Amino acid sequence: MKATALKPSNIKQLAGSPNLRFVPSNYVHSTNLNHDDDGDGDDSNSIPIIDFSLLTSCDPNQRSTAIHQLGKACQDWGFFMVVNHGIPDNLMKAVIDCTDEFFNLPDEEKQEFSGKHVLDPIRYGTSFNTSTENLFFWRDFLKVFVHPHFHSPTKPQAYRDVVLEYSKKLREVARKLLGGVSESLGLEESYLDKALDLESGLQVFVGNYYPPCPQPELTMGMPPHSDHGLLTLLISNQVGGLQVQHQGKWINVNALPNSLLVNTGDHLEIFSNGKYKSNVHRAVVNNKVTRISVVTANGPSLETIVRPASPLIEKENSPSAYIPMKYKDYLELQQSNQLDAKSCLDRVK
Ligand code: SIN
Ligand code: FE2
Repeated sequence: MKATALKPSNIKQLAGSPNLRFVPSNYVHSTNLNHDDDGDGDDSNSIPIIDFSLLTSCDPNQRSTAIHQLGKACQDWGFFMVVNHGIPDNLMKAVIDCTDEFFNLPDEEKQEFSGKHVLDPIRYGTSFNTSTENLFFWRDFLKVFVHPHFHSPTKPQAYRDVVLEYSKKLREVARKLLGGVSESLGLEESYLDKALDLESGLQVFVGNYYPPCPQPELTMGMPPHSDHGLLTLLISNQVGGLQVQHQGKWINVNALPNSLLVNTGDHLEIFSNGKYKSNVHRAVVNNKVTRISVVTANGPSLETIVRPASPLIEKENSPSAYIPMKYKDYLELQQSNQLDAKSCLDRVK
């Protein structure tokens, strides 16, 4: 029997409908997105691991080893796991729990934040951008701007305090990582921070909800894409689903317990003049359990016009490979179109 097309309001509701045995046709992306064969489980073991405590160590040798590893991870993978980052396990769990609680709120309460402009500070939605898509993704989301101004839905009750504490701590980790990245490019530790005005940097907190799907091989939670910011930090409810592209293959990410998963974004590619390519990744779904991921995107300030770092152009005598663009304009362009590999970045080349 052929499943019929449905206009989505949210995927949680659709997936929860009794007797849903087929994926509606406007969610079908592939005839056989075979997750097991596609994702190479073995290569997951070679994903770089960065020990954050070495990066912040007072011992210059330890720190320079960590910076070297960080640069190599950015260049070879655009993706790495961070361990010993100092974010308490119970805070990470609380973040996942209150994200889950948000998606479990009655529909009317969630809808209060839906259908607004892509740059609105709190936005609930489904798929990626249903106003431009014909084919939808098996995902609901809540995007909240948490820096330079902190926003929060009023429910669930714990959300504000938990997310405020988590995003502050994560910002510190992201800035330290970016200091190391800056050094790995041969720049001063503070160069990137100052050039991109990270003091007023945009930080977006995104909760993703992927309910079980009756035919997971036919659809996707998120399409292959790169992120707009500098570094994106991700945690999940320990259910797999994230795949990263590496040397033309999809690699299943099996996160080390309590690690932060980090990927390089488009603005790091621009800033590094193409040395650190933004990572392409996607989310696949399963037919057993709900997957929740919490993604924190860390970018320049919205008003910064981003271009490749001038010392990189001068020192290496290589022409700038990207057209300067205000981060806010880039963000709006990416968020208001279909999410499709690196199509937004291609427009500034
Ligand atoms: C994302 O790329 O924003 C989400 C990926 C995931 O849920 O693993
Ligand atoms: Fe992403």
